[in-house]
Amino acid sequence: MKKPVIAIDGFSSTGKSSISKIIAEKLGIVHLDTGALYRGITWFALQNCLNDDETINLEQLFSSFPLIELEFKNDNGELVLFLNHINISKEIRSHEVSQNVSFIAKQKEVRDFLLQSQRNLAEKGGIIMDGRDIGTVVLPNADFKFFLTASIEERTRRRYQELLSLGIETDEKFVKDNLIERDRIDSEREIAPLKKADDAIVIDNTKLNKKETIESILAYLKK
Ligand code: DC
Repeated sequence: MKKPVIAIDGFSSTGKSSISKIIAEKLGIVHLDTGALYRGITWFALQNCLNDDETINLEQLFSSFPLIELEFKNDNGELVLFLNHINISKEIRSHEVSQNVSFIAKQKEVRDFLLQSQRNLAEKGGIIMDGRDIGTVVLPNADFKFFLTASIEERTRRRYQELLSLGIETDEKFVKDNLIERDRIDSEREIAPLKKADDAIVIDNTKLNKKETIESILAYLKK
């Protein structure tokens, strides 16, 4: 039997990736965190494609696409992102990347570059993909679609804890402002904006912990 294709979209720091990872393990399917791909491109741009005034040179970035190889590899059971064979899983969570990723993700060239490889991964089924446009653009025919949301206060608290656990120093106001700004740019962009698919199930997990959110998704999958 073909394993399901599941799309999980939603606002930043609603737990999409960590929840998708656990569901993937439970169902024995693959998990793809598509945000990591956009972060990987952003990290590459910040390393290699800067103008003299430190802004990102988009033309240089687009012409560098043939030099970019993004790959997820299994590292002790954990899928981690490698860029040209270098593990960049920690680098992509930095402030610098978080502050620039929405600008990079709204570029048509970047979205086109990443679109087909995301679709290819879902061709055989058995995947849970999380992002912003999975149910609307990448996998409009997914078997199940969920849209996660939570209050900005709760999302700030979660991202702050996540950064601390990664050893990244920060303050809560900075984290909150970054989440608000990213959601605004992601929702307002012209191509593939952050949006609930018409047929997606909305889960507000402000008052749900990770386990409860997972249970609620699994209950829908069993139906
Ligand atoms: O899930 P995340 O916070 O790591 O995603 C980082 C950024 O990437 C987010 O601000 C918007 C962008 N993104 C996107 O535009 N489309 C996706 N499918 C996934 C992420």
